[in-house]
Amino acid sequence: MAVGTAHAQAHPNIALIKYWGNRDERLRLPANSSLSFNLSGLQTTTQVTWIEDKSGDSLILNGREARTDELSRVIRHLDMLRSHLGIRGYAHVESGNNFPTGTGIASSASAFAALTAAATSAAGLHLDERTLTTLARLGSGSAARSIPAGFVEWHASDAHEDSYAESIAPADHWTLIDVIAIVSTSHKAVGSTAGHASAATSDLQNARVAGAERRLTQCRSAVLTRDFAALAEVVEEDSNLMHAVMMTSRPPLFYWLPATLAIMAAVRRWRTEGLQVCYTLDAGPNIHCICGPEAAAEVRNRLQSISGVVDIRSAPPGGGVTIERLA
Ligand code: PMV
Repeated sequence: MAVGTAHAQAHPNIALIKYWGNRDERLRLPANSSLSFNLSGLQTTTQVTWIEDKSGDSLILNGREARTDELSRVIRHLDMLRSHLGIRGYAHVESGNNFPTGTGIASSASAFAALTAAATSAAGLHLDERTLTTLARLGSGSAARSIPAGFVEWHASDAHEDSYAESIAPADHWTLIDVIAIVSTSHKAVGSTAGHASAATSDLQNARVAGAERRLTQCRSAVLTRDFAALAEVVEEDSNLMHAVMMTSRPPLFYWLPATLAIMAAVRRWRTEGLQVCYTLDAGPNIHCICGPEAAAEVRNRLQSISGVVDIRSAPPGGGVTIERLA
């Protein structure tokens, strides 16, 4: 017997101050606080139906039956929701992205934000935003940041309830554009879950985490005052630090391709020429060029002529998760 269906939509987000490494792997309690904005126009749409007399959870992903590894990650999250919220029965989940997965556009963030919102609403629960962010975090840390709207800070804490995300400014506060230069569309070799687990093996992780609060304070203030020059310096520093940790972990993780490095150098040069642009990279080779409102069109043009760029996407700050209970 079906007991409820709901539908949710969430955007991925790009971190300006990165999350890398957990203080608690199972609860995904992060080593440091982070700050991001949601990416409008890119989205995951997910529908969940809870069925009491079903024999197990099922998942359709982008119109096809999910692979075993994809299904098991979703089951693990549904198990967390069942045990935290006392939900009974099994879920049928249908989910789709309007952007390529596993290529440095964080599909797990929008996926677990939408799944958490749809699953809890389909179970008849009306949870407040803060609680929803803590539950989304259990599926994928950065998913906590895809629940609130606009520019979002996710707090590090030792307690499940206190590691939540909240909006620090709405999407229309500052029309930054994330111009994403895609240099590879193949699925990344080492995903972020394994990456987080290896972060502490780098001698540099403690130093990165020790400075994270200072960088977060600088970044928050640059966002709130719309100070692009200050934002650019701290965003690049923070991304470089995360990749330094990745490259010095055991085993080391190298996500950059030659085109990645060429674009990072070009972006720094364009900024000295007066263009409002800086770069940040997640666990993949694609480059997120964060642009001031007037610079995005020019940055897009210049990226088109760089060899190795196979696609370009642009996204301004977006809203939070939306939920619709259907039955
Ligand atoms: O939420 P996860 O486990 O996919 O981790 C995301 C990690 C980075 O994208 C590299 C950084 C971040 O803060 O989004």
